[in-house]
Amino acid sequence: MAETSITLGGVALVGCGSATPAQRISNDQLGQRVDTNDSWIRSRTGISARHVIGPDETLTGLSHQAAANALRMAGWESESIDLILLATSTPDDLFGSAPQLQAILGAQKAVAFDLTAACSGFLFALVTAAQFLRTGAMRRALVIGADQLSRWVDWDDRRSCVLFGDGAGAVALEATSPDQNGLLGFQLKSDGSRGDCLNLPQVQNYLSLVAGNSHQQGGFKPIQMNGQEVYKFAVREVPTILQSLLKATNTKPESLDWLLLHQANQRILDAVADRFAIPQAKVLSNLAEYGNTSAATIPLMLDEAVQDERIKPGQLIASSGFGAGLSWGAALIRWQGPA
Ligand code: ACO
Repeated sequence: MAETSITLGGVALVGCGSATPAQRISNDQLGQRVDTNDSWIRSRTGISARHVIGPDETLTGLSHQAAANALRMAGWESESIDLILLATSTPDDLFGSAPQLQAILGAQKAVAFDLTAACSGFLFALVTAAQFLRTGAMRRALVIGADQLSRWVDWDDRRSCVLFGDGAGAVALEATSPDQNGLLGFQLKSDGSRGDCLNLPQVQNYLSLVAGNSHQQGGFKPIQMNGQEVYKFAVREVPTILQSLLKATNTKPESLDWLLLHQANQRILDAVADRFAIPQAKVLSNLAEYGNTSAATIPLMLDEAVQDERIKPGQLIASSGFGAGLSWGAALIRWQGPA
């Protein structure tokens, strides 16, 4: 039998962009609705405000702004894109919002679809898109992480509503030669047996269709979360997967330029940084302003730090996403930026 082997190419992150809703709600404003206050929220989470999508905004619209900004930075024409991957758990259309995004962008050649992995969604989508590029099947991909959890939060539940906000972030990913590869390693995990600590479950709404039959109509309950279990999961699993990734890629923590974690809670960021003795100055955080924007947090933070020139071409970033599913993952990235 003839031996077959695939030579994998590399992928480069050559552009990024982001967008957040205009409406900003501070902790004090939230305290006018539920029994909470700025001091409790900031000390337990690090969050001071969140941006919430308004009646004239949509997830597709925010994703479009983020994607258009990433395209501009990369210097790409939309007709040159082969793949649009939209990581979201909260599409405008349950059948998927990526095709609408493709149409608005005018990316006629691109195949576009949604990927659902909650707060791990962007990382999972980045790795998924990279597989199409590294095998040579495609050359250019736009990976977007976007969520509008505000639509699905119980705004009268102070234990969860203080945590979340809306946003979108995007990355332009291009096939390169193996020596220019910017996705140096990754690990992805799921554990559905622990999924019940964070859900957005269906409502039980039975309808009798015809005599002797019943059927369940669609509809979802607000987000349900066991905060302490989610916290324990994050501070246990994120250091473990990062440790494993660093070992697999033969990377020392001190050689990292940045730690770019899912922005869920400042205490989680601090605990992970402590575990690897990574100084605070290398830990990217913008959750004070945006809260937890689910699939959007990582590309939103990446874009902010690229725009203000904290992240520079060639720098090494350890990233980890984690959340509902339960799902979690880590990736070692070298930011390239536009040519
Ligand atoms: N304001 C004031 N008091 C509050 C609030 C609030 N917003 N929320 C809860 N409390 C009260 C509780 O009622 C409780 O009072 P009690 O002792 O009188 O009963 C007290 O504060 C302590 O509540 P805990 O739930 O034990 O508070 P904890 O210290 O665990 O903090 C938090 C809660 C911030 C949610 C924390 O558990 C956490 O960050 N967990 C991780 C959650 C998370 O990150 N989820 C999303 C990640 S996955 C994804 O991104 C989708």
